[in-house]
Amino acid sequence: MLSIHKLTKAFGPNVAVDQADIEIANPAMVGIIGRSGAGKSTLLRMMNRLSDATSGKIVYEGCDITELRGKDKRHWQSECAMIFQQFNLVPRMDVVSNVLHGTLNQRSTVSTVFNLFPKADIHRAIDILERLGIAEHGPKRAEALSGGQQQRVAIARALMQDPKIILADEPIASLDPMNAQVVMQSLRRIHEEDGRMVIANLHTLDTARRYCDRVIGMRDGRIVFDGTPEQLTTGAARDIYGADDSFSEAATSTEIQALDRIPA
Ligand SMILES: Nc1ncnc2c1ncn2[C@@H]1O[C@H](COP(=O)(O)OP(=O)(O)OP(=O)(O)O)[C@@H](O)[C@H]1O
Ligand SMILES: [Mg+2]
Repeated sequence: MLSIHKLTKAFGPNVAVDQADIEIANPAMVGIIGRSGAGKSTLLRMMNRLSDATSGKIVYEGCDITELRGKDKRHWQSECAMIFQQFNLVPRMDVVSNVLHGTLNQRSTVSTVFNLFPKADIHRAIDILERLGIAEHGPKRAEALSGGQQQRVAIARALMQDPKIILADEPIASLDPMNAQVVMQSLRRIHEEDGRMVIANLHTLDTARRYCDRVIGMRDGRIVFDGTPEQLTTGAARDIYGADDSFSEAATSTEIQALDRIPA
């Protein structure tokens, strides 16, 4: 169980996240939506402790995450892997080595400096790549892969940490609809098959509705919606996005559903 209590982050006078309260029972796939600047990334970064909260608490299985320091904080960061819009791979390094870097915080400095990876880790990296359907690209440089393939490498790297939680900040924002679909399906499968919690910031309504069990809507740093995809009506969405009657769902659509209807 992940409990977030009155979590707040202020940048000077600007309150990016304002007293957020969220309870997520394991396992869940949760989508966070809201317009640009609503506080979605800031919320995710606080969960991972990339950014410290101004006030409030994050409690995971009885442990106060906001209080962790040093080794304990690093351990938490390996328990909740982060995936970013821009993949954050090492472009000139091969795919398998990129994935192996997911184990970095579990290894000694010496083995890191000399790029020595245990055989078992290499096998595991290849297994994970296979699971994500990209093992054949293992020897290639990361930069030689398509965006969708690179994002799957980033997911593989996250899985190397064997995380309990995967935090994804706009994982498909730079991808075309077809690649976006493959990446979202990968995240969904990881959630369903491994029972990992997945929390993804998403900029499109249809993606959140389609892949998530629960959707959280943020507006001006506040949580203004928390419900099932069915409860996320056009009216509720208009409220989250702060739009008037001219609000159109199409403006927040990746047209993934339309793509689904194209026969293979
Ligand atoms: N490091 C920072 N320093 C100052 N202000 C920041 C910082 N990071 C975020 N903010 C501000 O906090 C608010 C929330 O930003 P955040 O990046 O969390 O929004 P977001 O919902 O992720 O937006 P987007 O959809 O554009 O990614 C914004 O007003 C932003 O300008
Ligand atoms: Mg963001």
